[in-house]
Amino acid sequence: MSTLTHSPAWNALHDHRTILSGHHLRDLFEQDEDRFDKFSLLFNDILIDYSKQPINSESMTLLMTLARQQGLEEWIRKMFRGERVNNTENRAALHVALRGEGPFHLDGVDITPSVKRVLMQMDSYTQAIRSGELKGYSGSRFTDVVNIGIGGSDLGPSMVIDALKPYTSSHIVTHFVSNIDGTNLIETLKSLNPETTLFIISSKTFTTQETMTNARSAREWFIAHGGREKDIAKHFIAVSSNREEVEKFGIDPSNMFEFWDWVGGRYSLWSAIGLPIAIAIGMENFYQLLDGASRMDHHFKSTPLEKNLPVILALIGIWQINFCGATTHAVLPYDQSLHRLPAYLQQIEMESNGKTADRDGRSVDYSTGVVLWGEPGTNGQHAFYQLLHQGNQIISSDFLAPCQSQNPIGNHHTLLMANFFAQTESLMKGRTESEVRDELVSQGMSSDALEKLLPHKIFSGNRASNSILFKRLDPQTLGSLLAMYEHKVFVQSVIWNVNPFDQWGVELGKKLAGSILSELKGDSHVTRYDSSSNGLINHFKKNC
Ligand code: F6P
Repeated sequence: MSTLTHSPAWNALHDHRTILSGHHLRDLFEQDEDRFDKFSLLFNDILIDYSKQPINSESMTLLMTLARQQGLEEWIRKMFRGERVNNTENRAALHVALRGEGPFHLDGVDITPSVKRVLMQMDSYTQAIRSGELKGYSGSRFTDVVNIGIGGSDLGPSMVIDALKPYTSSHIVTHFVSNIDGTNLIETLKSLNPETTLFIISSKTFTTQETMTNARSAREWFIAHGGREKDIAKHFIAVSSNREEVEKFGIDPSNMFEFWDWVGGRYSLWSAIGLPIAIAIGMENFYQLLDGASRMDHHFKSTPLEKNLPVILALIGIWQINFCGATTHAVLPYDQSLHRLPAYLQQIEMESNGKTADRDGRSVDYSTGVVLWGEPGTNGQHAFYQLLHQGNQIISSDFLAPCQSQNPIGNHHTLLMANFFAQTESLMKGRTESEVRDELVSQGMSSDALEKLLPHKIFSGNRASNSILFKRLDPQTLGSLLAMYEHKVFVQSVIWNVNPFDQWGVELGKKLAGSILSELKGDSHVTRYDSSSNGLINHFKKNC
């Protein structure tokens, strides 16, 4: 047994769960009229309601005790102090320095001036592109930006640009190519004119197979469609922490935007990786995004755990995953603009905390991370909510919605919000046998038919959710929300004693793909893998 699952705070939570599991959420609300006031928090324009969670005041006290037992307050200080909290890579995790006033120290040196220098570089480049001062090789202004990157070098920027569409320039369209599947690149390039297209090659390492393959093919396309070698400097820029590889690729280092090894890929949208965002929404709005995140950083760093949004969300998640048996977590934005939020959060949560070894290399005997998924409401209601309401798995969820729509039209937003409130209410309350019986009787159903239908119309309820309401989806609010989720993941990593800033689990597949690649090229019959992989590879070779 691990120290964690053996610890007094963990055991106290287990015992508490046994007692509390006999209480339906409905009862908890009936017993306490002030439940919403007790279990909700307001941060600027963001309201978090966690009262529809199977908790009472004692649960929160015990969760706070667990957080303190795991040294959360000191871990938060360590991260902000620039200590090497990414122990397996011997790196700091200072993404907060990308958006804060500073000073932020790394090995005794304030890194804020470097951050400001790159922001200034982004600022003048962004203005030059948006104003048309910087032009393509034929003298026309840029109309399209293609970001080539994957994972953290893609998900954040593409999600943010979709989320902030009303703030984007109408002169410039941003495209994202991430998949090594040629379809992604080819379909994107089909409508583009090389004379007016700017390629941003975004890769922290500048060695990622998908990105480098797409970047080379984009360069070939550019040359094949009228661009000359000497025009590449104008049309290809790089965002990376690896100057040497950028030069090897043939991009002039003066066209490179730097970031640093203390910025994890999935925490990098605030760095120069955010350049496509800045070009799309303008630097002023990009600063607002940073400011929103910085406000959340300040809240996270300086607010007592009991009133601290990321801490509360994280501990509720721990409660769900480790004590209530939740197997997956649904992120359900009632905002079409946030349709890529679940995909973005998948990387933040699953790549960060999906670990089996703790910080000291010992195997854990508790769940870490969570399978995160989701779709915007109300679409999801017509697809998978059936299982949320009547399936027999425990699924926790975050419902998010803006009070004001980015695109008001008729009564659409009121209808959307009516659905938002109805879903969390019905998940919580359910429908009892007597309520269903009364309804069927009032419909005049015969007793035989009624008894047959009855079990199918009962909803057990008692299904937990968090509701996250914000005034409107603007750059500052979005920045705060994203930083909130980043810190939530950090808090959970502290409770689980795992390093959330490495991702060794993605290495094995990459290595094996390299070895299989060489075998896909020749005619020889492959025999060196298991019979399944041999069979599949040989079938592919016969049919490709
Ligand atoms: O999937 C692994 C990973 O290293 C992610 O953590 C990262 O965001 C992505 O690949 C892309 O890496 P890079 O920015 O170095 O191309």
